[in-house]
Amino acid sequence: MPVTSNRTADFTESVIRRMTRIALEHGAINLSQGFPDFDPPAELTAALAQLAPSGPHQYAITWGAANFREALARKQSRLMGMELDPERHITVTCGSTEAMMAAMMSAVNPGDKVIVFSPFYENYGADAILSGARPLYVPLVPPDFGFDRELLRRAFEERPRALILCNPSNPSGKVFSREELEYIAALAEEFDTWVITDEVYEHIVYRPLEHIYFASLPGMAERTISCSSLSKTYSITGWRLGYTIAGERVTNIIRKVHDFLTVGAAAPLMEAAVTALNFPDSYYEELLSSYTKKRDVFLRCLDTAGLRYTIPQGAYYVLADISELNGKDDTRFCEWLAKEVKVAAVPGSSFFHSAAASPPVNNLIRFHFAKKEATLLAAGERLADLQSIWNKRGY
Ligand SMILES: Cc1ncc(COP(=O)(O)O)c(C=O)c1O
Repeated sequence: MPVTSNRTADFTESVIRRMTRIALEHGAINLSQGFPDFDPPAELTAALAQLAPSGPHQYAITWGAANFREALARKQSRLMGMELDPERHITVTCGSTEAMMAAMMSAVNPGDKVIVFSPFYENYGADAILSGARPLYVPLVPPDFGFDRELLRRAFEERPRALILCNPSNPSGKVFSREELEYIAALAEEFDTWVITDEVYEHIVYRPLEHIYFASLPGMAERTISCSSLSKTYSITGWRLGYTIAGERVTNIIRKVHDFLTVGAAAPLMEAAVTALNFPDSYYEELLSSYTKKRDVFLRCLDTAGLRYTIPQGAYYVLADISELNGKDDTRFCEWLAKEVKVAAVPGSSFFHSAAASPPVNNLIRFHFAKKEATLLAAGERLADLQSIWNKRGY
């Protein structure tokens, strides 16, 4: 067989997908992979059903159907406090996953350095490999996931081309404060660095906190490539609709990368999703109150199970501390949990870069709670027996 590329030699199987497989094998409730087990808004699925006979069924404009970009520009201009032009600033992509990749390919040369906060969403490692960038990891330190300002400055002194900012953060649930964002902005300005944001959880920020768009900070619009998507906001992770918002010059480049990567997002899904982009503010308020309730229900389950955790400020994940039960091997613990307690979580160590965590972080496991309340309560019932099952037959 001919040899395969060196580029992909360091790719490992996604730990989350592995945990999903283990969950299936043992009939565990899967709180590892972050997608909802409830339906998208009925108006949205109705819009999709309605257009099946008429289409559109052929390629849309490569950087996104005009009505989708117009609706998105209206929504995001209002939220971000910026005048966004659908013709100049927006590129519709296949999920935020493609948006991030297109942003990296457009801003970063092979060999350039890119700052990544650790723990981080696993795709950023792959994005760096595929674009030839060298990640510089800066730790977000549990339990509050703050960063050391001096360490961040030192990373900037290595002259990175870009910083990746996941806000709200997966897996930590951290929401960056205005002061933190302003500190990052000042460094980005001083060292002339791109900031590539991943804001897919922009609508899931728990009160009293509020989401602050990095691009909306003074002077940041021109050096920010904002990436986000409809996956989480409208519970349509399978539709693969995402976008970048950026200045005109870099948008022109992102559009070319996007064209060669995928040609475009799915035309009928863009058309149907215009309905969602036009939802009134009450939709987002209800979404947040629904996730606030889910968070509260699941945190109570963790209390009953006797697990400590950092209260998530945003997104739909929680990192729970297993030190009192085990403390040494989160991967083995997650396998045991799926098999014996029948709840699947993700080992926290898979999100931390080892060089950026000293001592290594292996006492945290990540649950997600984008599930129906009934599913969360069923998981809670199983977790309530965690201590006694562990005492009887821990590994
Ligand atoms: C931080 C983060 N970014 C991006 C994604 C993927 O987004 P999309 O479905 O838009 O590609 C996820 C999915 O879990 C995520 O957690």
